[in-house]
Amino acid sequence: MTQDGTRPVEIDTSKPHPARIYDYLLGGKDNYEVDRQAGDQLAAVAPEVWISVRANRGFLQRAVRHVIDSGVRQILDVGTGLPTSPNVHEIAQEAEADVRVAYVDNDPIVKAHADALLNRAGTTSIVLADLRDPKSVVEHPEVRRIIDFDQPVALFLVAILHFIRDAEEPERIVATLRDALPAGSFLVLSHATDDFAERSAAQAIYNNATASMNLRPRARVERFFEGFELVEPGLVQVPFWRPESTPPEGSAQIGFYGAVGVKKA
Ligand SMILES: C[S@@+](CC[C@H](N)C(=O)[O-])C[C@H]1O[C@@H](n2cnc3c(N)ncnc32)[C@H](O)[C@@H]1O
Repeated sequence: MTQDGTRPVEIDTSKPHPARIYDYLLGGKDNYEVDRQAGDQLAAVAPEVWISVRANRGFLQRAVRHVIDSGVRQILDVGTGLPTSPNVHEIAQEAEADVRVAYVDNDPIVKAHADALLNRAGTTSIVLADLRDPKSVVEHPEVRRIIDFDQPVALFLVAILHFIRDAEEPERIVATLRDALPAGSFLVLSHATDDFAERSAAQAIYNNATASMNLRPRARVERFFEGFELVEPGLVQVPFWRPESTPPEGSAQIGFYGAVGVKKA
C-alpha cells in the first residue's frame, strides 16, 4: 500500500498501450519501447497514421473552442490521453478563464502525468475511472465536484470508443452518459473507421496491446449521436470538421470520423 492507503499502481510495460502508442505517434516522450514498436508497425501498414493523430488533435482543439464559444463552461473529457500541448483545459481556459474541466482516464500513467499539470485553483481535475462502467464516471465524487450536471456539459469522447468492444455495448455506454446530461449539452466524438481503406493489418497490431481496436463504419458512429442534433458539417473525417486552414495532403485517407452534437430538449 502507498502512504495514502491506495494500492501501488502496477504498470504493464510488456504490452503496448493505446495512450502511449498515441503519445509516440504525436512525438511525445511518455512511452516505452513496446509502444514505439507498435507505433512503427502501425505506420508501416497505415502510413497516414502520422497525419491522422495530428488531425484528430486539431479536431479536438477546434471542438473545444466551438463548445466554449457556444456558452458551455464545463467539460467532461473521458479518455484524456497523456498530456499533449495544448491540452483541453489550456485551450478552454484561455478562451474563458472560468471553464471547469474533469478529465477521466483508466490509465494510471495518464493520471500521474495529468496530476502534475493541473491548476491550483481546483477547476481542473483528473479521475481514474473506466468508461466501460459509465455510472462510475458520472457518479465519481471528484467529477461531481467539478461538474454540475444541472448545467450544460460538453462531453468529450475523442478517440476512445474504438477501444470498446461491441460485447461491451458502446451504444449503451454513450446513452448512459447522455442521460446524465441536461438539454443543451454537447457530445464531441471521434472514432476510427476502415471506411476509407482496408485496415485489418493495422487492427491486428492492437491484438497484442492492452486494448483492442474496434473500427466501425459511418452508420455505427452516427448511432452514438442518438438524442443529439449534429452541428454543421455533421459527421465527417476529422480534418474536414470546420477546418481553419487547408487540410493536409492525404486527408481523404484519414480513418477518423468526428462530429459535435447538441443534446435535444
Ligand atoms: C488515443 S487516446 C486519446 C486521447 C485524447 N482524447 C485525444 O483524442 O487526443 C485514448 C485514451 O483513452 C483511454 N482509454 C482507453 N480505454 C478506456 C476506458 N475503458 N476507460 C477510460 N479511458 C480509456 C486511454 O488510456 C487513452 O488515454
